[in-house]
Amino acid sequence: MKRRDVIKMMGASLLIGGGLFASKAVRAKEEKAPPLPWPYKKLDPEKVAERAYLGYYKGACCYGAFDSIVGSAQELLGYPYTMLPTELFVFGQGGVADVASLCGALLGAAAAVFLFTGGLEKETREKSYALIQDLFNFYEQEALPKYVPKNPKVNVEIKRSAARSPLCHVSVTRWCKVTGYKAFSKERSERCGRLTADCALYALKLIESHVAGQFKQAYLLSAEVKRCRTCHDKGGTLEDSRGMMDCSMCHFTGKKAKHP
Ligand code: HEC
Ligand code: HEC
Repeated sequence: MKRRDVIKMMGASLLIGGGLFASKAVRAKEEKAPPLPWPYKKLDPEKVAERAYLGYYKGACCYGAFDSIVGSAQELLGYPYTMLPTELFVFGQGGVADVASLCGALLGAAAAVFLFTGGLEKETREKSYALIQDLFNFYEQEALPKYVPKNPKVNVEIKRSAARSPLCHVSVTRWCKVTGYKAFSKERSERCGRLTADCALYALKLIESHVAGQFKQAYLLSAEVKRCRTCHDKGGTLEDSRGMMDCSMCHFTGKKAKHP
């Protein structure tokens, strides 16, 4: 071997060795997830909404909502977002594994909000909860879905309804009542796909307002629910219950039912 070639080879092996060393160091760092909140960088809301809508048809509501934001952050920022398999959130489908409890779109969107704004510490946690509560109130009070996809999978007019509850069961059933569509129709799927985009968009708005230090609650608890809570919730005279859902959806709904 010529002397020049030997030097070349040494250089190459140094480069390779150095490269290996560097990537090992990076890998060691990347094996551990940093504490929350994770950094946010501006995402395109239009792309996020479309990704949520299409994600719904891939892995259902919870996946669609979570993946639209966190999957976009993976593409833009890489680590640490790439540590999270977004398909983890498929399980939230249909109000968690089709049980129709908490709406999966809300669950996925809330998880994304917490990722960017939450954390273990009590104060951080509670600030993030305020955002999530606003998301829930938005969901319960707004007539949804609002989002209209570029290329709708089901191209009919999708009427809106206010869920008045974070529960998949109530939300879907009330929409079926308003529209006359069946709970397992393709129109109801389309409604939930669009609603997934609504939740992702609102979650993104919340994250951005938090990061900018400009969050203000936009959707408030009704005066009635506040009143119920003064007696029945934390610190109340009875303190025999808890929650911020609209009480009247389940209590005293009949004409004769009266509060004692
Ligand atoms: C001023 C205090 C106060 C407020 C405000 C209040 N409650 Fe009550 N609530 C009571 C008391 C007292 C009882 C009876 C408890 C018992 O008998 O153990 C009761 C009983 C109940 C019960 C159980 C009895 C039943 O008939 O089912 C429910 C449910 C309930 N309240 C829901 C609500 C809701 C919903 C609201 C708001 C619309 C509300 N309460 C507002 C004091 C209050
Ligand atoms: C999704 C339906 C739902 C919503 C919304 C809801 N509740 Fe309830 N609540 C129930 C059910 C079901 C029970 C259990 C009733 C039972 O076992 O007798 C219950 C029990 C209670 C009880 C105890 C009743 C008793 O018999 O002593 C109180 C008080 C109560 N709820 C207050 C509230 C208040 C206040 C709100 C609103 C902040 C609220 N609930 C929202 C469904 C609901």
